[in-house]
Parts: sequence; C-alpha cells; structure tokens
Amino acid sequence: MATLAADLSVPFFNYPKAFAPYEEQMVDAFRDILRRGAFILQKDLADFETNLANYLGAKHVIGVANATDALILAWRAAGLPEGAEVIYPSHTMVASPASVVYAGGIPVPVDCDEIGMMCPDSAERAITSKTKGIMPVQLNGRSCNMDRIREIADRHGLIIVEDSAQGLGSQYKGQFASTFGAAGVFSFYPAKILGGPGDGGAIVTNDDHMAEQIKLMRDHGRNHEGEVVMWGINSRLDNLQAALLDLQFKDYAEIIRRRREIADLYQTRLGDLEQVQLPPAPDHSATPEYFDTFQNYEMQADNRDELRTYLREHRIGTLIQWGGKAVHQFAALGYSGPALPNTERFFQRCIMLPMNMTLTDEEVHYVADHVRSFYGR
Ligand SMILES: Cc1ncc(COP(=O)(O)O)c(C=O)c1O
Repeated sequence: MATLAADLSVPFFNYPKAFAPYEEQMVDAFRDILRRGAFILQKDLADFETNLANYLGAKHVIGVANATDALILAWRAAGLPEGAEVIYPSHTMVASPASVVYAGGIPVPVDCDEIGMMCPDSAERAITSKTKGIMPVQLNGRSCNMDRIREIADRHGLIIVEDSAQGLGSQYKGQFASTFGAAGVFSFYPAKILGGPGDGGAIVTNDDHMAEQIKLMRDHGRNHEGEVVMWGINSRLDNLQAALLDLQFKDYAEIIRRRREIADLYQTRLGDLEQVQLPPAPDHSATPEYFDTFQNYEMQADNRDELRTYLREHRIGTLIQWGGKAVHQFAALGYSGPALPNTERFFQRCIMLPMNMTLTDEEVHYVADHVRSFYGR
C-alpha cells in the first residue's frame, strides 16, 4: 500500500482558484468594455466567433446564450420537421433531448457502448420511418465514432446535429468535434474546459443559410436594418462573456496539453487496477483516430458508492454526473421503451475524479493513492 499524505484536500472543482490566473486580465477587459459601453452584439463577440471558427476550420461560429439554446436553434435552423424522431444517447445531460422537444421533435434514447459513448448499432436499431435526426454526444472531451454515425445518417437521410457541449478541441481522425454534421454546439458553462464566469454557448456550421437563420433567430428574428423577418428569441452571447472567453481561449493548447498530462498520470497510477475501468488513455495506440481533451475524467468502478464515501472521508471530491441517472431513467419524462443495459450498468459504476487546471501533480497522486488504498493496493 502507498504511503498516504495526510494534509491534502482536493475538491472536485475550485471555481475561485480556476479563475484566479485570469483575474487581472478579466478585470481589465471588463473595465475596457464598460468604458466602451460595448455590451450587445459588439466587436469582442465577433472576434471570439472568428477565432473559434479559425481554430475549428469551420465557416461559421455564432455565439448564443448557452448550449441548450444552441441545440434548439440548430435543430430549428436545420429544418427538423414537427413530430420527427431524433436519436440520441441516453448517457447525456437532459439538455440534449430537451432541445429536440423544444424544436418540435421527439427524442428517442439509445444505448451507449462499454466506454459510455453513443453505440452506433443501438442507434441504427432505433431508426423508424419517422426518424429524421441523430445527435451524437461528444462526452467528456471525446468524440463518438463519427465514421459509423455519418455512414448511418447518410444511409437513412438523417440530419446530424452534434452535441459537442463537452467537446471543444476533441478530434476524430484529425477533424474537430462540432464539424461533422449540419451543426455542432459548445457550452461555456463555468466548469467547461473553456468556461466563462456565467453561461455561454456557440453553434458551429458550414452551411451559410443555417448560419444566417441562426443569427436572425438569436436576435428576435431581426435583420441588420432592424426589420423582423422571422420569429426569433433572445439568445445572444454577451459581448462581455465573449471577451472573457476569448482571453482564456488564447491558452487553449496549453490547457489541453495539461489535461492530457493529468489523464496520463491517472493512467500510470491506476491502469493496473482490475476493479476500475479507466477512460481510454491520451495516447491510446490501439485507437489513434481519437484525440481526447478530458473535459472530465470519468471511470467505472467496483463498489463505486463506497469508493466515493472513502474518497470524501479523505477530502477528495468526486462527481456522479447528472443526478446518477441516464435521461431515460427520469420517471417524469415518461420513457416506456426497451431497457438500455449498457447505459444502466454504466450509471451504476461511473464516477468522476478531479480533472481541472488547478490540480497539481501532488494532488493527482494523492487522489490516485487513495483510490489504490481503497482497493487494498
Ligand atoms: C452534453 C451536454 N449537453 C448540453 C449541455 C447544456 O449546456 P448549457 O449548460 O450551456 O446549456 C451540457 C452542459 O453541461 C452538456 O454537458
């Protein structure tokens, strides 16, 4: 058994510490924006959208209020017909299927594979004559098998909207998450890899017409002259939020490098434990087509609840995502379809270890030491 350091405390996430390195720059940016009075649909937003589009190699990025709105607007702009079914993995945040409901469609949950990503076979089995869309979810900074999903979508004439809320920077075969289908979205919720001090989101598309529609819809359906040309809502990304995100985005390469380094450390320290199934390691040579950014470090563990209690007793914060349930398991949402066994098993075993930019190597070792000691190693 490892010797355990007694005096550490590793919260799951530490907001004040996460934003501390940016405090001065953020205060300067805020002051500058106050003095310019540049609040709504201003240059800082346009600059951020351009920088993000250039990074992704995408034609359009449109900042909106959050990723949930982004998904709703994406489905509407993609022309999802009223009453159409959209397939999504039940291992996701409820925002993914809620967006389909709010766009007039019917979300249909499917199973995940053994590492928690949307299962293409399960997706294909769920297709009916009413299916018009498919929503891969790029979870934890990893992309789905987009070759398979695109092949299924092409064969059945389905619209792809990617829920890449957690996937900024994640790649599949060298292509960025969010750029595979009609549109993709990002969330800038504070705990995201690129997180702001508040809500924020963006839509990515290469389709000029969709981009135009989304820009109108996010601003009450108004064009540049103020003429209302369609029904819209108010879902603008604040200029201030965009400026604060843009200044952090300059460090994005280093942020991803460090997160992958932490994942590598967890792999080195925990990879031999048969009681846990770790997420694929950053340099997983068996599947080099994936480049993961580790938005979260979610593993599956024997005696998960006891492990969580043990870690809490040693001042280590963990998270069991989304209230510990897959979307189809929330009774109030009225799911009555077949069981989704992989997803249900996953939710009995999943647990997230701390994964963020405030972690020191010593803290990662402290967490790993205690996972090992829990299993008597
Ligand atoms: C997979 C997924 N989809 C959608 C959302 C919704 O994002 P937002 O909070 O920006 O609306 C989240 C947020 O955490 C998410 O994790």
